[in-house]
Amino acid sequence: MLHKKLEPFPKDFFWGASTSAYQVEGANAEDGKGPSCQDVKELPAGTADLATCADHYHHFKEDIALMAEMGFKSYRFSIAWTRILPEGAGKVNQKGIDFYNSLIDECLRYHITPIVTMFHFDMPAALDEKGSWSNPESVQWFEDYAKILFESFGDRVKHWLTINEQNMLTLVGPVIGTLHVPEGTTNLTKEIYQQNHHQLVAQARAMILCHRIIPDALIGPAPNIALVYPASSKPKDILAAENYNAIRNWLYLDMAVFGRYNNLVWAYLKEHDATPAFAKGDEETLKNAHPDFIGFNYYNTATVEASLSWDDDINPGADQQSARGEAGFYKGAENPNLLKTEFGWEIDPDGFRATMRELYDRYHLPLLVTENGLGAYDTLEEDGSIHDDYRIKYLDEHIRQIRLAITDGVEMMGYNPWSAIDLVSTHEGIRKRYGFIYVDTTDEKVGSLKRYKKDSFEWYKEVIRTNGECLY
Ligand code: BG6
Repeated sequence: MLHKKLEPFPKDFFWGASTSAYQVEGANAEDGKGPSCQDVKELPAGTADLATCADHYHHFKEDIALMAEMGFKSYRFSIAWTRILPEGAGKVNQKGIDFYNSLIDECLRYHITPIVTMFHFDMPAALDEKGSWSNPESVQWFEDYAKILFESFGDRVKHWLTINEQNMLTLVGPVIGTLHVPEGTTNLTKEIYQQNHHQLVAQARAMILCHRIIPDALIGPAPNIALVYPASSKPKDILAAENYNAIRNWLYLDMAVFGRYNNLVWAYLKEHDATPAFAKGDEETLKNAHPDFIGFNYYNTATVEASLSWDDDINPGADQQSARGEAGFYKGAENPNLLKTEFGWEIDPDGFRATMRELYDRYHLPLLVTENGLGAYDTLEEDGSIHDDYRIKYLDEHIRQIRLAITDGVEMMGYNPWSAIDLVSTHEGIRKRYGFIYVDTTDEKVGSLKRYKKDSFEWYKEVIRTNGECLY
């Protein structure tokens, strides 16, 4: 749709950026923190370990001052479960509570609204040993952890996100380092979707609890949502796109918002003999929980074609954003209309608008962009500058799409791209940089950890100062 006049960004739009605890904090064995599944996983070859990352744990004041200099209205970060509960359950680590109190207070000092993710890929290792999300008790573990967070920080944190990218935990667990396969598993799909079911119930319980403990807070899920295109106008490709849209996207939000399994997903699970078991009370819990908004991460769309045989040769895909498929359901395809990043992810700003429109049409809840961004190799010049015009271009093109979506009638709360500061990527190290702030460290060796402003820093500052108007 062409528009003659664009609606402005809302006055209270959350311009900010995101990080996650295990990727940015470092200090992963300090001040009583217990290990998470990320700390004990086998690292992908050649990538930095998680002991230091950007050392945000020790540099957070400096980092938040830089975010304030950019004019951030919000900072989305996650809490490391194992800083609060080193064993995942039981004894609380006061030093962990103290750290997040300081982080939150530091944000508020600059009028930056903290948007807190409760769980970002970092299951406590001690709970992994007890079966992780395959254990039905995991629902209670999460609710107990949630209660501590709401009671400790709820007086100041009014925006909560439950589980980051539950869909990626389910679809690409091995890439992210979170797959837990209990001994004796015979049907892996069934096992994974049972774990997924426990997460859905845990999320529902957390949403209910949040509304009870902090009545003036808002809470929502944060899946990775990307509209799935059919590779052609062939009707069978359209059906394949519907299949993958359901499995990749709608399963998670239909449940969070409506409290029901998407029917295509249920049919797919039946086909795999993989429907999850409901515990007593699950159905009611899922129905009674309601998010106040939808947080979502967007990097690019996906494209699929029909898979019409159980023997189809399928490209299993490399990670969160690359083509995947399942024989008999859909087959990942390249989109010839899109360029790619240096790390092979397609770039699709128009797809961002399409995704926002579709999300709003389906759920009619305000949308908060909790991630979006460009991973690239950055070069630190001798004079301390970093010329990341490619990142500016990517962000510029995506922010414009938000404004178009707003003009299309979509209710948008904010934009928190990935990432505020350089950090360690899920599986490609710190060489894949995303931040507005460069951190002097590499995968090979911990560096000075000095912070440098990239060109995108000044650019984003102006975007925020003008509430997006400077782009036009
Ligand atoms: C999302 C995650 O999948 O994308 C982040 O929520 C992640 O944790 C980001 O870092 C970028 O992905 P990657 O694989 O480049 O780190």
